[in-house]
Amino acid sequence: MKFLCQTTAILALCAGGAFADTIKVGVIGPFSGGAALQGRNFQAGIEAYFALNGRTVGDHEIEIIYRDLPAADPGQSAALTQELIVGEGVQYLAGYYYTPDAMAAAPILEEANVPMVVFNAATSAIVNASPLVVRTSFTTFQTSTPMATVARERGIERVITVVSDYGPGVDSETAFVRAFGAAGGTVVESVRMPMSTVDFSPIMQRIRDSGAEAVFAFLPAGPQTFGFMTAFVENGLKADGVQLLAPGDLTQESDLPVLGPNAAGMLTTFHYAVSHNSPENIAFTEAATAWLGNPAELSFPAVGAFDGMHVIAHMIAATNGQQDAAAAVDSVKGLEWISPRGPVSINPDNRHITQNIYLREVAEVEGQYINHEIQVFENQGDPGWVAP
Ligand code: PHB
Repeated sequence: MKFLCQTTAILALCAGGAFADTIKVGVIGPFSGGAALQGRNFQAGIEAYFALNGRTVGDHEIEIIYRDLPAADPGQSAALTQELIVGEGVQYLAGYYYTPDAMAAAPILEEANVPMVVFNAATSAIVNASPLVVRTSFTTFQTSTPMATVARERGIERVITVVSDYGPGVDSETAFVRAFGAAGGTVVESVRMPMSTVDFSPIMQRIRDSGAEAVFAFLPAGPQTFGFMTAFVENGLKADGVQLLAPGDLTQESDLPVLGPNAAGMLTTFHYAVSHNSPENIAFTEAATAWLGNPAELSFPAVGAFDGMHVIAHMIAATNGQQDAAAAVDSVKGLEWISPRGPVSINPDNRHITQNIYLREVAEVEGQYINHEIQVFENQGDPGWVAP
């Protein structure tokens, strides 16, 4: 349209808004491989947004261009990001499931004049990698900190932490160790596992040998969390009464049909439960499951994507479809809305989402395992963010 509107003969048509233009949004996520369901949830969130709000903002039609990044791969993330910008001419970038992928793409944004809306990657420092990053998911610092309070309120004194050895794992460990220590608890040992770990039996032995009453654990939701939860039970730690505490990545709803009986009673802290009881969430889950076809597949990356689309639509409206990344990002600083997860806003200082964090218990309700919300930590910012 910009090119067409330089032709005076059709200026009148353009001014009258007769031509709708297309705004391309490039979305990178895991759409194949072991974490494909996480990427499918990005799609479910996007499609739910379109089902409830339409695909157009004013005269501007949104087109989504997907690129598959099956596992954390910073080099491939940078290559796909470049290709979306140069080859496809995308005006917005979004998605990014894993932290290393978001980190690798962030330095490209300013020169390309393209904002990035992070639908998942959860290391606090990502927003510092570019002023054009906005995040609608969570940080592991944000979701892990309240668990220290929960553990102390339940009289737990000695904990071993076990995390994946990369950004969100280190943040999760730091958050828990800091908050648990401040609340008078003792972390007896901190273990970091390579992201590639598939055999968790040696880790389970270390947990047992530590003599801790509880283990606090973070792994990125997907095959790893499923493997860890299974090993915890199969190695007899649950039977021995060791408590497993974690942010909600470990009990994502799409794993509960299988994990449910073994996870029953487990406490997690997180920003979103599929069972959250609100009119906004009922509308969202209906639209998302209509697209997925199977309600049991719905999980938290969908809400990050749904709210991410809300942010992108706001940016498109605020810039009237023009490509001005700085103005687009400025327009959402301080933006407040009611998400399916509850009330949220974009912190103008760090462009990260402020939200409630819920304590949930895995429970069987009407034959289905859910993350049942039992307590709210309201209006949580990111305690892991350090101003650059
Ligand atoms: C991340 O890499 O930032 C990440 C991935 C999956 C999660 C949480 C964080 O569940």
